[in-house]
Amino acid sequence: PKRVGILISGRGSNMQSLVRAAGDAYQVVLVASDKADAAGLAWAVEQGIATFSHPGPRAQREAAFDAAMRDKGVDVIALAGHMQILSGDFVSRWAGRMLNIHPSLLPLYKGLDTHARAIEAGDAEAGCSVHVVTEELDAGEVLGQARVPILPGDTADSLAERVLAVEHSLYPRILAEFVKR
Ligand code: GAR
Repeated sequence: PKRVGILISGRGSNMQSLVRAAGDAYQVVLVASDKADAAGLAWAVEQGIATFSHPGPRAQREAAFDAAMRDKGVDVIALAGHMQILSGDFVSRWAGRMLNIHPSLLPLYKGLDTHARAIEAGDAEAGCSVHVVTEELDAGEVLGQARVPILPGDTADSLAERVLAVEHSLYPRILAEFVKR
Protein backbone atom coordinates (compact mmCIF):
# COMPACT_ATOMS: atom_id res chain seq x y z
CA PRO A 1 0.00 0.00 0.00
CA LYS A 2 1.00 3.63 -0.59
CA ARG A 3 1.70 5.66 2.54
CA VAL A 4 -0.74 8.54 3.09
CA GLY A 5 -0.38 11.47 5.48
CA ILE A 6 -3.46 13.57 6.25
CA LEU A 7 -3.58 17.26 7.20
CA ILE A 8 -6.63 18.42 9.17
CA SER A 9 -7.66 21.48 11.18
CA GLY A 10 -10.74 20.35 13.08
CA ARG A 11 -13.45 17.71 13.23
CA GLY A 12 -11.73 15.38 10.78
CA SER A 13 -14.75 13.46 9.51
CA ASN A 14 -13.20 13.16 6.04
CA MET A 15 -9.97 11.94 7.65
CA GLN A 16 -12.01 9.29 9.48
CA SER A 17 -13.61 8.13 6.23
CA LEU A 18 -10.15 7.86 4.62
CA VAL A 19 -8.83 5.85 7.59
CA ARG A 20 -11.85 3.52 7.56
CA ALA A 21 -11.40 2.82 3.84
CA ALA A 22 -7.64 2.14 4.05
CA GLY A 23 -6.49 -1.25 2.83
CA ASP A 24 -4.66 -2.68 -0.17
CA ALA A 25 -4.40 0.66 -1.99
CA TYR A 26 -3.17 2.86 0.84
CA GLN A 27 -2.59 3.07 4.57
CA VAL A 28 -2.75 6.20 6.72
CA VAL A 29 0.58 6.62 8.52
CA LEU A 30 0.27 10.14 9.94
CA VAL A 31 -2.47 12.63 10.83
CA ALA A 32 -1.20 16.18 11.38
CA SER A 33 -2.98 19.39 12.34
CA ASP A 34 -2.26 23.09 12.61
CA LYS A 35 -4.57 23.11 15.66
CA ALA A 36 -3.43 21.13 18.70
CA ASP A 37 -7.03 20.73 19.92
CA ALA A 38 -8.48 19.47 16.61
CA ALA A 39 -11.11 16.84 17.48
CA GLY A 40 -9.87 14.64 14.66
CA LEU A 41 -6.44 14.30 16.31
CA ALA A 42 -7.94 12.67 19.42
CA TRP A 43 -9.83 10.21 17.22
CA ALA A 44 -6.66 9.33 15.30
CA VAL A 45 -4.80 8.75 18.58
CA GLU A 46 -7.54 6.32 19.65
CA GLN A 47 -7.00 4.42 16.39
CA GLY A 48 -3.30 4.11 17.14
CA ILE A 49 -2.29 6.36 14.24
CA ALA A 50 0.75 8.62 14.64
CA THR A 51 -0.32 12.23 15.10
CA PHE A 52 1.45 15.55 15.06
CA SER A 53 0.39 19.15 15.57
CA HIS A 54 2.18 22.43 15.04
CA PRO A 55 0.21 25.61 15.73
CA GLY A 56 3.11 27.96 14.95
CA PRO A 57 3.51 30.49 12.13
CA ARG A 58 3.34 29.20 8.57
CA ALA A 59 7.03 28.83 7.72
CA GLN A 60 7.85 26.83 10.86
CA ARG A 61 4.61 24.87 10.72
CA GLU A 62 5.12 23.83 7.11
CA ALA A 63 8.75 22.89 7.74
CA ALA A 64 7.60 20.69 10.64
CA PHE A 65 4.80 19.11 8.57
CA ASP A 66 7.22 18.42 5.72
CA ALA A 67 9.79 16.83 8.04
CA ALA A 68 7.15 14.70 9.81
CA MET A 69 5.70 13.50 6.49
CA ARG A 70 9.14 12.61 5.11
CA ASP A 71 10.07 10.92 8.40
CA LYS A 72 7.01 8.65 8.03
CA GLY A 73 7.84 7.88 4.39
CA VAL A 74 4.64 9.52 3.16
CA ASP A 75 3.96 9.10 -0.57
CA VAL A 76 0.77 11.17 -0.84
CA ILE A 77 -0.68 13.94 1.36
CA ALA A 78 -4.46 14.22 1.63
CA LEU A 79 -5.81 17.56 2.85
CA ALA A 80 -9.05 16.93 4.75
CA GLY A 81 -10.62 20.05 6.20
CA HIS A 82 -7.18 21.66 6.48
CA MET A 83 -8.08 25.33 6.66
CA GLN A 84 -4.68 26.98 6.16
CA ILE A 85 -3.46 28.14 2.77
CA LEU A 86 -0.20 26.35 1.98
CA SER A 87 2.82 28.22 0.62
CA GLY A 88 4.02 27.75 -2.93
CA ASP A 89 7.19 26.27 -1.48
CA PHE A 90 5.32 23.53 0.42
CA VAL A 91 3.04 22.84 -2.55
CA SER A 92 6.00 22.50 -4.91
CA ARG A 93 7.72 20.00 -2.58
CA TRP A 94 4.61 17.80 -2.83
CA ALA A 95 3.69 18.64 -6.43
CA GLY A 96 1.52 15.94 -7.96
CA ARG A 97 1.44 14.10 -4.62
CA MET A 98 -1.11 16.14 -2.67
CA LEU A 99 -4.94 16.06 -2.93
CA ASN A 100 -7.67 18.18 -1.36
CA ILE A 101 -11.43 17.87 -0.95
CA HIS A 102 -13.35 21.08 -1.48
CA PRO A 103 -17.08 21.49 -0.72
CA SER A 104 -18.24 22.81 -4.10
CA LEU A 105 -18.53 21.75 -7.71
CA LEU A 106 -15.25 23.32 -8.83
CA PRO A 107 -14.53 25.55 -10.67
CA LEU A 108 -17.53 27.10 -8.89
CA TYR A 109 -17.02 28.64 -5.44
CA LYS A 110 -13.34 28.41 -4.65
CA GLY A 111 -12.44 29.54 -1.12
CA LEU A 112 -14.82 29.82 1.83
CA ASP A 113 -18.60 29.90 2.41
CA THR A 114 -19.28 27.67 -0.58
CA HIS A 115 -22.72 26.48 0.51
CA ALA A 116 -24.09 29.94 1.32
CA ARG A 117 -22.83 31.16 -2.07
CA ALA A 118 -24.46 28.25 -3.95
CA ILE A 119 -27.82 28.89 -2.21
CA GLU A 120 -27.55 32.65 -2.78
CA ALA A 121 -26.91 32.05 -6.50
CA GLY A 122 -30.10 29.97 -6.77
CA ASP A 123 -28.21 26.87 -7.92
CA ALA A 124 -30.22 23.65 -8.28
CA GLU A 125 -27.34 21.49 -7.09
CA ALA A 126 -24.19 21.58 -5.02
CA GLY A 127 -21.47 19.06 -4.27
CA CYS A 128 -17.83 18.45 -3.62
CA SER A 129 -14.63 17.99 -5.61
CA VAL A 130 -11.39 16.11 -5.03
CA HIS A 131 -8.54 17.86 -6.81
CA VAL A 132 -4.78 17.90 -7.10
CA VAL A 133 -3.31 20.73 -5.01
CA THR A 134 -1.47 23.43 -6.94
CA GLU A 135 -0.21 26.79 -5.77
CA GLU A 136 -3.35 28.56 -7.01
CA LEU A 137 -6.13 27.96 -4.44
CA ASP A 138 -8.66 25.23 -5.33
CA ALA A 139 -7.54 25.28 -8.97
CA GLY A 140 -5.71 21.98 -9.61
CA GLU A 141 -6.96 19.13 -11.79
CA VAL A 142 -10.34 17.83 -10.59
CA LEU A 143 -10.17 14.05 -10.14
CA GLY A 144 -13.77 13.44 -9.10
CA GLN A 145 -16.97 15.12 -7.97
CA ALA A 146 -20.21 14.16 -6.24
CA ARG A 147 -23.49 16.08 -6.55
CA VAL A 148 -26.49 16.65 -4.31
CA PRO A 149 -29.69 18.66 -4.88
CA ILE A 150 -30.23 22.01 -3.20
CA LEU A 151 -33.71 21.77 -1.66
CA PRO A 152 -36.25 24.48 -0.84
CA GLY A 153 -35.57 25.85 2.63
CA ASP A 154 -31.93 24.73 2.66
CA THR A 155 -29.56 26.67 4.88
CA ALA A 156 -25.78 26.63 4.56
CA ASP A 157 -25.76 24.12 7.45
CA SER A 158 -28.38 21.76 6.04
CA LEU A 159 -26.65 21.80 2.65
CA ALA A 160 -23.22 21.29 4.23
CA GLU A 161 -24.53 18.18 5.98
CA ARG A 162 -25.92 16.75 2.71
CA VAL A 163 -22.66 17.47 0.88
CA LEU A 164 -20.53 16.06 3.71
CA ALA A 165 -22.30 12.69 3.43
CA VAL A 166 -21.17 12.37 -0.19
CA GLU A 167 -17.68 13.69 0.60
CA HIS A 168 -17.24 10.65 2.83
CA SER A 169 -17.70 8.21 -0.03
CA LEU A 170 -16.05 10.28 -2.78
CA TYR A 171 -12.70 10.98 -1.12
CA PRO A 172 -11.68 7.39 -0.26
CA ARG A 173 -12.67 6.21 -3.74
CA ILE A 174 -10.69 8.92 -5.54
CA LEU A 175 -7.66 8.60 -3.25
CA ALA A 176 -7.55 4.83 -3.85
CA GLU A 177 -7.69 5.42 -7.63
CA PHE A 178 -5.05 8.16 -7.44
CA VAL A 179 -2.45 6.12 -5.55
CA LYS A 180 -2.76 3.33 -8.13
CA ARG A 181 -2.21 5.56 -11.18
C1 GAR B 1 -15.41 19.51 4.68
O1 GAR B 1 -16.71 19.84 4.23
C2 GAR B 1 -14.39 19.89 3.64
O2 GAR B 1 -14.82 19.70 2.31
C3 GAR B 1 -14.21 21.35 3.93
O3 GAR B 1 -14.25 21.47 5.33
C4 GAR B 1 -15.01 20.40 5.87
C5 GAR B 1 -14.13 19.66 6.85
O4 GAR B 1 -14.88 18.71 7.56
N1 GAR B 1 -12.96 21.84 3.40
C6 GAR B 1 -12.76 23.10 3.03
O5 GAR B 1 -13.60 23.96 3.13
C7 GAR B 1 -11.38 23.36 2.48
N2 GAR B 1 -11.25 24.73 2.11
P1 GAR B 1 -14.11 17.53 8.31
O6 GAR B 1 -13.04 18.17 9.20
O7 GAR B 1 -15.18 16.87 9.14
O8 GAR B 1 -13.52 16.62 7.27
